[in-house]
Amino acid sequence: MVLPSSLTLLLMMSIFISIFVISITCFHDDEERHIYLVLLEGDGIAFQKGSHSQDSTTIDPNSLREETEAKHDEILQSALEDGSYKKLHSFKHMFNGFSVHTSRSQATRLRNLAGVKLVQRDNGAKLMTTHTPQFLSLPTGIWTQLGGPAHAGDGVVIGFVDSGINPTHPSFAYDPNLHPFTSNLSSFSSAECQFGPFFPASSCNGKIVSAKFFSAGAQAAVNLNASVDILSPFDAEGHGSHVASIAAGNGGVPVVVNGVFYGKASGMAPRARIAVYKAAYPSGSTLADVVAAMDQAVSDRVDILTVSVGPDEPPPDGTLTFLNMFEVAMLFARKAGVFVVQAAGNKGPYPSTVVSFSPWAMGVGASTTDRTYPAHLLLGNGQVLDGASLSGPGFGNGKVLQKLVLAKDALKKNGTFQHTPEYIEECQHPEAFDPNLVFARIVICTCSYGFYTGTSSFAAIVDTARTLGFSGFIYVANPRYGSYKPQAYPFALPSILISRVDDAKVISQYYEEHTKRDERGNFIESDAMAAIGEGRVASFTERSPVVSLFSSRGPDISNNRKSLADVLKPDVLAPGDQIWAAYSPMSVSNPMLRGHEFAILSGTSMATPHVSQH
Ligand SMILES: *[C@@H]1O[C@H](CO)[C@@H](O)[C@H](O)[C@H]1NC(C)=O
Ligand SMILES: *[C@@H]1O[C@H](CO)[C@@H](O)[C@H](O)[C@H]1NC(C)=O
Ligand SMILES: *[C@@H]1O[C@H](CO)[C@@H](O)[C@H](O)[C@H]1NC(C)=O
Repeated sequence: MVLPSSLTLLLMMSIFISIFVISITCFHDDEERHIYLVLLEGDGIAFQKGSHSQDSTTIDPNSLREETEAKHDEILQSALEDGSYKKLHSFKHMFNGFSVHTSRSQATRLRNLAGVKLVQRDNGAKLMTTHTPQFLSLPTGIWTQLGGPAHAGDGVVIGFVDSGINPTHPSFAYDPNLHPFTSNLSSFSSAECQFGPFFPASSCNGKIVSAKFFSAGAQAAVNLNASVDILSPFDAEGHGSHVASIAAGNGGVPVVVNGVFYGKASGMAPRARIAVYKAAYPSGSTLADVVAAMDQAVSDRVDILTVSVGPDEPPPDGTLTFLNMFEVAMLFARKAGVFVVQAAGNKGPYPSTVVSFSPWAMGVGASTTDRTYPAHLLLGNGQVLDGASLSGPGFGNGKVLQKLVLAKDALKKNGTFQHTPEYIEECQHPEAFDPNLVFARIVICTCSYGFYTGTSSFAAIVDTARTLGFSGFIYVANPRYGSYKPQAYPFALPSILISRVDDAKVISQYYEEHTKRDERGNFIESDAMAAIGEGRVASFTERSPVVSLFSSRGPDISNNRKSLADVLKPDVLAPGDQIWAAYSPMSVSNPMLRGHEFAILSGTSMATPHVSQH
């Protein structure tokens, strides 16, 4: 009894202390701080006469940079209260401005200052890839058709504002002896690389010509976790590596996942060089870091800038979409001669969900290609159903029928496992099952509530299947929730996604016809059988391109009240549906893909780099 009571005391003390601390801070500083982006009058350095080294009247760009930073500090010092703010970045190349972490009242002071054109609160930035399997559709791919000229992109530098890069990936390797670049860079002017965790000095290897990370915004406004929010240009997500390899990955790189060869990957411009500007972190991203990254890319004079991260909603308060700081940044980047390519967003198929608003950036929507990975399920009565899979076949090369069991019929009889039926149907917990009823069987798992709320995952199904020795699993649509759009992953055991409710009903009917139950409906036994076919062989016969379901749609809007704008968006469509490309094995946001060097992803992020060459 001593232990619990001292624990209780400790608990009470800590509650008391935290209440006390909260009341103190509330009393002294009742205003929460946010990041604000501020645009000032006056040109960025890129537009000041004589700022480029090849101009005849040279002004030292370093002194210009220092001068601009000093001016920003001066403005903040004179306008705001001491200790009420922290400047995060000075934007100085494409435009004149800064980002600052401060309270609303201090931001209002800035707004009222002469020479201030725009003050906008930072509402964060998102990667334009969806990880939600339900919203994705099936077909894809382009690289197989692209033997591509061996020199495509030589001399061009593509800048990527994204989650960083996996520097050891073969898509970004460079051997100057074997296959040297033959063109000099047109205008790129920075070979600077920032090193750090997972990003040693050898990472900038000639293919990756520059790598920087921008984190002041995330460090001020996001609760960063040092083990996943790596402060170096290293890509802990996989997203940045994926995007960079689609645009500029080396040609002919074998894609091997779980020991299976899926073909060879090639970037659209396999000889282009890569400049990395990391501004996205697994725990959250800020517009301030994204804009700072873009400013640096303009200063470095990349030829093309690919932006697959940004605000995924129109600005609040009815502010004009075109006057959003992000749009303004793209305008000035374009004006400085950088071709800007931007993801259109992943909020389709609903109208006016496009988040690429402005005529000065190329907004890219996603489409399917003619590639599919057909997969089939054979039932014991001879019926064959279409599904999606990227997994190998079941027993006997998928031709031998095996026993089938529905997850909720295979529960431990006298188990003490406490969970809602949703989790049981979704095969999330190995401890819920009677091992004898699922071993060496194909188990039917049902898409349910946990998948819609994001608490359930394929990773957990695979874990359950491995722990208990399923011979495979079928993931069926739930009539209560409707059909879903399948996103197949290369699972390491036979599996198939049956995404249409009608097909799920066929399976259910067959299963019930072959299953004995007692008068209360309890499972007695079943002689239902099925076989899962090969799901890793591509077919190139699909009608294409078709706009992907998730790809954000026009018409373009000029504010969050959805007033229509006279701009046609998205500008172009490119393949963005089920695209194989380089990845980062750390895969912080997607446990299913951990350890993989390649991933098949969908999103307008995946479409955007297909357009990153002119
Ligand atoms: C690249 O630059 C070097 C040094 O300026 C020059 O010698 C070489 O000829 C250039 N190569 C090409 C292909 O322009
Ligand atoms: C940080 O991330 C690691 C890895 O995902 C996780 O195990 C840990 O709990 C996280 N720490 C915090 C404080 O959230
Ligand atoms: C209940 O579970 C125990 C151990 O988990 C097992 O030994 C026993 O046979 C089970 N009883 C029934 C009726 O299934």
